[in-house]
Formats: sequence, structure tokens, C-alpha cells
Amino acid sequence: MTKRLGRMQNNPLQLNNPDEVTVNDRTYNIVTFGCQMNVNESAWLERGLKRAGFTPAPEDSARVHILNTCSVRAKPVQKVMSLLGRIEKLTNADPDVLVAVGGCVAQQVGEQFFKRFPQVRLVFGPDGTANAPAALERLLAEPGLKLSLLDFSAEYVDKEPLLNGPAPTSAYVDIMQGCDNFCTYCIVPFTRGPKKSRPKQSVLAECRTLVEQGSREITLLGQNVNAYALDQPDWNISFAELLYEVAAIPGLLRLRFMTSHPKDIAPEVIDAFKDLPNLCPRLHLPLQSGSNRVLERMNRGYTVERYLEIVSALREARPELELSTDIIVGFPGETEADFEATMLAMQNARFIDSFSFCYSDRPGTKSERFLDKVSSSVALDRLARLQAWQTNQREAFLKSQVGKQTHMLVESPSKRNNGWQGRDPYGHIVNIVSEQALPGRLLPVTIIEAKKHSLIAKEALND
Ligand code: 5AD
Ligand code: SF4
Repeated sequence: MTKRLGRMQNNPLQLNNPDEVTVNDRTYNIVTFGCQMNVNESAWLERGLKRAGFTPAPEDSARVHILNTCSVRAKPVQKVMSLLGRIEKLTNADPDVLVAVGGCVAQQVGEQFFKRFPQVRLVFGPDGTANAPAALERLLAEPGLKLSLLDFSAEYVDKEPLLNGPAPTSAYVDIMQGCDNFCTYCIVPFTRGPKKSRPKQSVLAECRTLVEQGSREITLLGQNVNAYALDQPDWNISFAELLYEVAAIPGLLRLRFMTSHPKDIAPEVIDAFKDLPNLCPRLHLPLQSGSNRVLERMNRGYTVERYLEIVSALREARPELELSTDIIVGFPGETEADFEATMLAMQNARFIDSFSFCYSDRPGTKSERFLDKVSSSVALDRLARLQAWQTNQREAFLKSQVGKQTHMLVESPSKRNNGWQGRDPYGHIVNIVSEQALPGRLLPVTIIEAKKHSLIAKEALND
């Protein structure tokens, strides 16, 4: 495919040559690692690339390869290196192939990628995402060039607006980026920089457009959504106020948000669970540990008693609310008694699900320097015990739904049985065979069976 490229206007990455340039084959392939924030940022990138005339292509034929990376999990750098090696092999190290590494690993490893892999000519951190499509255009036009976009921005940089066309039934909207809590184990403040909130107008405009284009459920996204606008006292808006404004968008059937930090959850956010019927009765609230000693060494800013107080207040506001959490086991210095305190807190909070991890060192974090590391066999044993408890809890909760009437928001046809797939208010996948199902429709259903991770429903006889 050959395309004529116009000159870029008002862009820091403007082409040196103001005349038009010719490039061949504007195809791209994106591989995304990690969290929903990264998935969202990849979607932004794709919109920017499509607007510039790029088309998606499989890994073995794309000219531009983009790896959007994550460094929260273990061995992230090795994973990225091995994928880069695979691309190099697959493309016979063709110098016309352009590889870009973005996201948190790019922020950490930076220009070292240039040395190891000559095809890598762009590295960009999370704050560089907005400029990445323009940088790729410039790199295609200037074959000798390499670029890095690794600076943190002080303000939220708005990225590609939505394309015209149908929007997903369930959509994600970014409301802030970055974090400056510096939990001692966490790499995020180093890779994503300090928190910066997205202006309310921009959040609301995106939500409204999504709903106009067919979305019925929106999840507001950010590293710590409860700290929304705390970096912008002049805006005179809190996260709770933003929630009320988004919830009021006509046609929005369901609203969710993640991730929340317990220390920043305001009483007004708890009230929102009472006041806003379209705010779903499910909250992901990372606890990390149930031991106050460990929480303090993690720099989490709350005690387990305070956490459980928040849980009670939330349940008072919305009795049917269900919670999930994140837990780290084997944090430096964690004793068996600390771990038992975590298990007790999990029972008290009655989490229906959790993401749990063995602690692992992240370069540059404070806890990397803690000397009292827990052996991996002890950590793995604790993780297995915690996950066994959680599996039982989750399965028991799903079983308890059998026979109940609820609503599923239909998302897409399911792979099996000519049926449909959607979600219940708690976010569990529900499968149904129904004549009435259509994407975006809120269907009254009765749950008839519980699987390990999902539910089966039939149409409810009455609403
Ligand atoms: N080791 C283990 N788990 C971690 N997480 C973040 N950093 C680490 C680390 N160094 C987990 C936390 C966080 C989730 C996204 O990843 O539980 O909430
Ligand atoms: Fe990391 Fe803590 Fe910020 Fe969450 S709140 S992103 S765990 S530093």
C-alpha cells in the first residue's frame, strides 16, 4: 500500500521536510501487556494510527510493530526482550520494519532498547503515548532517525478523540494518569509519574459521545480515581461530583470505576453508592495486606480497622455491594502471624474475588532495599492458601446466584450455542440463549447455573 502523507501542523514532531513524503505499506501490529490503562492507551494509539491512514495487520506482515508494556508483574523486561527477539527473527531483521516500545518498561529501560535491537527506533513512556503516532510518521519518513518520548508531563495530555462509528457496549474512560503515593513496593510512580487529572469537560464529552455511539456501561479509569482533581484545586470538583455528573448522562445504564485507594475514598463517594442506581454494586478496593505492621511498611496510609470501617459504610450505603481486592503476600518481613491477619481481614471483608501476587522487587522502589525478604517457598505457600480460600469464596458466591433474578447487559454473541454473552451488575460473565438479546440491551434474566468463573441464565418470566 502506498500513501501520500500530508505535512503535520502544529506538532512538536513536525517533519523537517515540509513537502509531502511517500511511504510504503502503512500497516501496524500492537501487542499490549498489563492493565486496563494500557489497553486503553493502546486503543488511543490505534485511533491515532488509523486517522493517519494506517491499517492493522498480523504480526508476520506488519511494517510497524508497537509493544505497549507493563512492569507491575514479574520479569517484565525479559518478556519484552523475548518478544523483540521474535519480531527480529520473524522479519529477518528487515531494517524497513519499525518497532516502537511504549509503556512502563520503555520508561524504565529507555534508549537501551536501541542498542540491543536496531529495529527499535521509538521508545515512549505512558506520558509519551499522545505523541507516538506523529513520531511514528516522522520515523517512517526519516529512516536514520531514532526518537525517545520519555519525559513526564506535568498536566494530563489529552489523546486521540473517538472515531465515528459504533462504540462498545462496555467502554473505559480515562480520568487521570500517574500516581504519587509511593507505596514502597510499587513501580508506578516511577514509570507513570505524578498524578495528573483529566479536565472534567473532556471526560464528560468522551462519555457522552460513547453513549451516543452505543455504549451503555462506562468504567472510569485511573491509577487512583479517588484522588481525581486533588492535583487541581482550582477546578472545584471532586471525584464524587464527577461520578454524579457522569451517572446523569441519559442512556448510561451502568457506571463503574477503578482503581480506588482506601485512604482517599471520600464519604461522598460512599454516598454515591446509595444515591446513584446506575452505579454498579461492585467495588475493587485493594487491601494489599491485613497486617497493620505490613501496611505501614508498605506506606499504604490506612489500618486494617479503617479499611473494614470503609467496607461497613459501603455496605450500609448499598447492602448488595460486593467487593474484590488486590493482595501481596510475602512482603519483606511478613510473618506467619501477619499473613494470618490478612486471611482474617479477607474473611471479614468477604471478598468475592481477588488478584493476589507474591511480592517481587521492582528496581528503584523503597522495599527493594528492605533486608528481611521472605523466601519464595514461604511466599508461594501463602499464596496457594490464600487463593484456595478465594476460589471457594468465588464459587460459593456464583452458586448463591442460582435461582436469582437479575439483569444482564448484553455485550456480544457467545462462541457456543448461538447464544449471547453479557455481564451481571457485579461484572460476572453471563451466558444466555435468548431471542430478545441484542448488544446494549439490559435483559431481565434468571440465573440457572454457576460455572467456575461465569453464570448461565435464561430469560426471566417477568421483570
Ligand atoms: N510485587 C507484587 N505485587 C505488586 N503489585 C504492585 N507492585 C507489586 C510488587 N512489587 C500488585 C499490587 C497492585 C497490583 C496492580 O499489583 O497488589 O495493587
Ligand atoms: Fe502503586 Fe500505591 Fe500508586 Fe497504587 S496507589 S499505583 S500501589 S503507588
